Amino acid sequence: MNKVSAKSAEGETHSKLILVGEHAVVYGKPAIALPFPLKVKALIKESFGIIKFKSAIYTGPLEKMPGRMKGILECIKETLNTLDKPLEGLSIEIESAIPLGSGLGSSAAVATAVVRGLFSFFHQKLSQKELFYLVQIAEEYAHGKPSGIDMAAVSSRHPILFQKGKDITPLISEAPLFIAVAHTGRIGDTRRAVENVRKNYLKDGEKVKKSLDKIEEITDMAEKALLNGDINLLGKLLNDNQQELIALGVSDNGLNALIDTARSQGALGAKLTGGGLGGCIIALADNLEKAKVISKALMKAGALESWYFSTCQDTLYFPER
Ligand code: MEV
Repeated sequence: MNKVSAKSAEGETHSKLILVGEHAVVYGKPAIALPFPLKVKALIKESFGIIKFKSAIYTGPLEKMPGRMKGILECIKETLNTLDKPLEGLSIEIESAIPLGSGLGSSAAVATAVVRGLFSFFHQKLSQKELFYLVQIAEEYAHGKPSGIDMAAVSSRHPILFQKGKDITPLISEAPLFIAVAHTGRIGDTRRAVENVRKNYLKDGEKVKKSLDKIEEITDMAEKALLNGDINLLGKLLNDNQQELIALGVSDNGLNALIDTARSQGALGAKLTGGGLGGCIIALADNLEKAKVISKALMKAGALESWYFSTCQDTLYFPER
């Protein structure tokens, strides 16, 4: 996963999709996430003087990064501190195919790639505990009080069942899932969506608690359906989960319109994925060809971007426009 040479190293990872359970996971409920094969790479090279950072959104000295990149700045500083290395003599370049603010775990994936790259550069072994501690620094700036599911999912090669404070369970099924994903084109604001749910909880605790409990039930059933390859049940559970996300106030018209399109094209189920309020939807299909048809229809319905894939392959497909 991480390549290393004398004066340079690479750290790599992928993005993630939440299949069921987002938002409820912040309140200690379980959720299921999948690796999504949109990749990010961090290239670390020896350089002179101050650390130089290069990415699609900022290129320049590390210390002059814009405020919205404070999370990755603090993560890099703490990683070098952990490695007992000075804040100099490096260039860090990010190559990412993950759109920002799309609910696909971009912030956790970039931080994971950078931490892996820096550990490789200095020939140090990285434990999962260290990785999570360092990535969490970036995540707290990006999301406020994240559950930790994004960083667990972007560093796992398998679907996972995640619950705060518990061991992460890999969910390995013989039967692949066929999934279409589409981006509304509007940046999702996970921090705001999480805050909205919290505000609603304070206003109408009974109603929000009911939705969170329902999502927990859905996730428990989805875990079994996933392991048994019962994709029809899984599709229905995605639809049920979307109803609760609407009740929590984190879906919106753009997401709902794409979800309707996916369902009308034969998706077994569809829902928003990640924080919501913009960002992406996922739709479950019964085979790859069907996922392609849905993905194409989502582009036609105005999605900014759409992809489809099978969870048994590391390949991402794009529908022709
Ligand atoms: C974001 O991908 C998932 C949320 O549940 C937030 C979190 O778990 O930190 C919305």
